[in-house]
Amino acid sequence: MARIAVFVGSLRKESINKYLAKNLEELAPKGTEFIYVDINLPLFNQDVEASDYPASAQAGKDIVKASDGVLFVTPEYNRSIPGPLKNAIDWISRPWGANSFAEKPVGIVGASIGPVGTAIAQSDMRHILAFLETKQLSHPEIYVANATDLFDENGHLTDERWRKNLQAYMDTFIPWVEKEK
Ligand code: FNR
Repeated sequence: MARIAVFVGSLRKESINKYLAKNLEELAPKGTEFIYVDINLPLFNQDVEASDYPASAQAGKDIVKASDGVLFVTPEYNRSIPGPLKNAIDWISRPWGANSFAEKPVGIVGASIGPVGTAIAQSDMRHILAFLETKQLSHPEIYVANATDLFDENGHLTDERWRKNLQAYMDTFIPWVEKEK
């Protein structure tokens, strides 16, 4: 059984990336547990990280530490990752010497309403996660492009081709996490 810390890179209520994460959770092998990390955190401030590390950031850190693997499901904002996600990663990577992402197996997927499908944001994520000494799944890749009409009003992914792609992703990602953890 794999415990996966899941970061959805959008705070939006009707986020297509939240929907994407929920669909991936449904398609995960039996026994997989998704634990969602709240990225709605105070702005990182190095002045307070030693003396007053926020409880909300500590909660995220604890989820990552206890996880077997980490999954990032993120939109692309201005050709990079959203600020709140980067902020959460910064908190959880700190204090220096206590980076909770180190050695974790990680996956990165994303959905956008445009044709690029978060490819540039995911590429940026890979730079950040390389510095944080994670192990990264390279393939398959999930860039859900032009996603506006792919989900129904309940957030269910209706497109069969994409459901097959997501299934293939989870069938690879979870066994890989089990092997690498
Ligand atoms: C966007 N969007 C966007 N899309 C994209 O493919 N590449 C980009 O660089 C950007 N840039 C961008 C910046 C900002 C500030 C916003 C708010 C949006 C559009 C984005 O794909 C769309 O809003 C998605 O619906 C965001 O994902 P969630 O919130 O639905 O998960």
